[in-house]
Amino acid sequence: MHSNKLKISVVGLGYVGLPLAAALSKHYEVLGFDKSKKKIVKLLKGNDPTNQLRSKEILNKNIKYSTNPKLINNTKIIIVTVPTPVDIKNKPDISLIKNACKTIGQNLSKSSIVVFESTVYPGLTEEVCIKVLEKYSKLKWKKDFNIGYSPERINPGDKIHNLENITKVISADNKKTLITLKKIYKKIIKKIFLAPSIRVAEAAKIIENTQRDINIAFMNELSIIFSKLNINIHDVLQAAGTKWNFLKFEPGLVGGHCIGVDPYYLTYKAKKIGYSPKIILSGRNLNDNMTRYLYLRYKQLLTEKFKKQKKINILLMGITFKENCNDFRNSKPVEFYKLLSNLENIKIDVHDPYVDKKEIKKEYNIKVIEKPTIKKYDSVVLLVKHKEYERLTYKNLKQYCKEVFFVFDIKNLFFKRFKEKNIFTI
Ligand SMILES: NC(=O)c1ccc[n+]([C@@H]2O[C@H](COP(=O)([O-])OP(=O)(O)OC[C@H]3O[C@@H](n4cnc5c(N)ncnc54)[C@H](O)[C@@H]3O)[C@@H](O)[C@H]2O)c1
Repeated sequence: MHSNKLKISVVGLGYVGLPLAAALSKHYEVLGFDKSKKKIVKLLKGNDPTNQLRSKEILNKNIKYSTNPKLINNTKIIIVTVPTPVDIKNKPDISLIKNACKTIGQNLSKSSIVVFESTVYPGLTEEVCIKVLEKYSKLKWKKDFNIGYSPERINPGDKIHNLENITKVISADNKKTLITLKKIYKKIIKKIFLAPSIRVAEAAKIIENTQRDINIAFMNELSIIFSKLNINIHDVLQAAGTKWNFLKFEPGLVGGHCIGVDPYYLTYKAKKIGYSPKIILSGRNLNDNMTRYLYLRYKQLLTEKFKKQKKINILLMGITFKENCNDFRNSKPVEFYKLLSNLENIKIDVHDPYVDKKEIKKEYNIKVIEKPTIKKYDSVVLLVKHKEYERLTYKNLKQYCKEVFFVFDIKNLFFKRFKEKNIFTI
């Protein structure tokens, strides 16, 4: 490492932290710190468990990976990118971010800046994180160390919107800190937006994902209504989309750990201050029930089409929570699979070009096949719009199926292109 370069720690090397650490290491000496030994061992071998970076991007002379928190003491900028999930009751689980603050606090040197990138509710940085940092460092905020908040907006699997070209919102506890952070982020990101306060930056992130969740919920509600009216929602959206101010959203499953989770951080905070959110929770509820709704529709189609059949072979296409990404945490396709696998007389083959087959077998006991079998399936369910599926022709699809088959296409991928009578969409 070059000792004359500013030293930065990135705490939590997942979907957000690893690409950030790698980008920063082109300009600074970086410590990639993670509490998971397994993760560090993989990274030291040049393997990215999130499947985003190549070996040469992970391993370079400016980056050091470690589980040793003492090394944080030797760095002046500490960027926190640990998960902020919800618990089983959809309440924010801030134990991970608090733990990270404890570790950082125990190893914090004077005049450092701690920057949070994890998604949080407005106020969490100042009300919770700073207190933990002060407690374990025995240092005083604003006198001995400073704070920044800069939400991450990356979209794993998205080749167009990446770390470099997504506008970065940054905020800090004073002007000097803000200018220091701007200089650092400007090295790796084209456009920087300076938010007037930490709370504004926290709130901005949370409403971006909440807005998306509500809009998808509206589409899902419309898809339920139109399906009962026998009107195709996608045809309706195409027609309505010709108006200049009609927003383009589609119905679908909202899983993962951002859009389906972040609104709960906002509603938690709202309830804490005595306001009970209406629209946000209603949208969440609708989106959370969508898997069950689609499963019931599919089950009905199966009954209609194969009433007398003893055994039905089904091909499920896509099991990750979204397209072109290997992440299956909080995946709605997994939920769909679980509901479907409870049915009698069916055999399911799951296919997904991205998912780590060993990991998903270990986590959910789902066996993912290498390739669908020719002429095997009575029905196909398209759950995720991976780019490999976008390339398929109707002939490709047909070759995997028996003479009589139908497709349940929840992404409107095949229906839109092939317009075949045996393809049903939502
Ligand atoms: N994944 C996304 O697409 C995305 C996009 C924008 C924002 N975010 C937000 O960014 C944050 C991180 O998400 P992610 O998807 O990168 O998470 P992740 O689960 O992929 O990675 C988090 C990493 O943090 C490590 N970790 C946990 N606690 C730690 C600790 N105390 N000390 C050191 N390491 C620790 C874990 O071992 C893991 O490697 C979350 O707040 C998330 O909401 C995620």
